[in-house]
Amino acid sequence: MSDILSGKTVIVTGAASGIGRAIALGVAGHGAGAVIVSDIQAEPREGGRPTAELIRDLGVQSRFVRADVSKRADNDGLVGAAQEFGGVDVMVLNAGISLRADGFDVAEDDYRRLMSINLDGPLFGAQAAARQMKALGKAGSIVLMGSMGGLAGAGITVAYSTSKGGVTLMAKALADALGPDGIRVNAVAPGTIDTELLRSTPPIAAAAEGFRQRTPLRRLGQPSEVGDAVAFLGSDLSSYITGIALQVDGGLLSVI
Ligand SMILES: NC(=O)c1ccc[n+]([C@@H]2O[C@H](COP(=O)([O-])OP(=O)(O)OC[C@H]3O[C@@H](n4cnc5c(N)ncnc54)[C@H](O)[C@@H]3O)[C@@H](O)[C@H]2O)c1
Repeated sequence: MSDILSGKTVIVTGAASGIGRAIALGVAGHGAGAVIVSDIQAEPREGGRPTAELIRDLGVQSRFVRADVSKRADNDGLVGAAQEFGGVDVMVLNAGISLRADGFDVAEDDYRRLMSINLDGPLFGAQAAARQMKALGKAGSIVLMGSMGGLAGAGITVAYSTSKGGVTLMAKALADALGPDGIRVNAVAPGTIDTELLRSTPPIAAAAEGFRQRTPLRRLGQPSEVGDAVAFLGSDLSSYITGIALQVDGGLLSVI
């Protein structure tokens, strides 16, 4: 596809399935030197062969590292695994979940589990990556997975929107904290993307057709389209861009 990530080592969390899988395959197609695929499970939720195997088929170095993003030690271990490939250049903190019931009365256990994955996860991952980038003197790029749900609220995703709103501001705060070291931090904010997360979350699946009709491009997004946006933010093509939330939503949030 391109060589915009030539020679770079990329880590992607939640990369067994869906958008993370497409990001991992996408960065490999855009020239990454090595891709570390991380998840709590190697098997894609939607079926098919594990992501790392497909990347190796493309002739790109890849290995799977099992890590639960809600655990600080797992994030540290994951970033440590990149030493084998010269250290991480692009850290993509994609892993996230939605809830089957996420209204105003969301259950406490569900709320805490979601926050630990969607909000603690990216902070611990960004901390681990930034420590290594600083130690190795790398002007790296950290990409956080936000959402249109982190830019506008929805009554069917109260905890989810709260977590993704946090991710949007986390990108801005970390951009300020790490910019002096040359490390950029951005978020991507996908709209309605056709994945298992969407299909297996009944309130979101039910709303998807309405979102599609209001989307200027009149279709759902494909995971690979998020992958291309992440490749751009990870590459030197975006060298003066930090602290943004890049909408990848077919225009949905830009219209009323
Ligand atoms: N699908 C959409 O429409 C959409 C829209 C906006 C944002 N997003 C965000 O994109 C990201 C990926 O979503 P998706 O649709 O590909 O979901 P998905 O369910 O298809 O894939 C998510 C992956 O994350 C992994 N995961 C779950 N908990 C984990 C943990 N604790 N540690 C590590 N990995 C874990 C899962 O095993 C799975 O492989 C999420 O952050 C989601 O919030 C999705």
